[in-house]
Amino acid sequence: MKVTGRPGRRAASAIVFGFLAAYAAVASAADHRRGGSLFQEHCAMCHGATGAPAIGGVPDLRRGLAMMRPDRQLLATLRNGRTTMPGYLGRLSDRDLLDVIAYMRTLT
Ligand code: HEC
Repeated sequence: MKVTGRPGRRAASAIVFGFLAAYAAVASAADHRRGGSLFQEHCAMCHGATGAPAIGGVPDLRRGLAMMRPDRQLLATLRNGRTTMPGYLGRLSDRDLLDVIAYMRTLT
């Protein structure tokens, strides 16, 4: 019998491909303009209208480490909050937060 490839491997690449396709769909669906108005409403009082800190202890969103994280990790932080930053679970949807993340990535 001729074996034409390893099914396990094919399944694995199908899973990886499916994940990438789903991720790409989420990433491309994010609307940074919508995120910008949500940011002004919910985040600017601490993070500043332009991402430059408005209060002490807040990271500068225009550069540095804060934004050098994958969307998935930022989403988890925004859902759950961190130290004095409130969590947004139940107030903003994941879609809202992904739009805000897309907006923050436009800040320079
Ligand atoms: C009450 C003030 C306050 C508000 C409102 C607030 N933040 Fe923050 N944010 C902080 C503080 C303080 C930190 C630093 C937390 C730490 O690491 O100690 C922070 C950290 C962050 C970080 C860096 C996370 C990391 O992984 O290092 C991001 C991104 C961020 N905020 C985005 C947002 C967004 C988006 C909103 C609105 C949806 C928001 N913040 C609302 C105070 C605030």
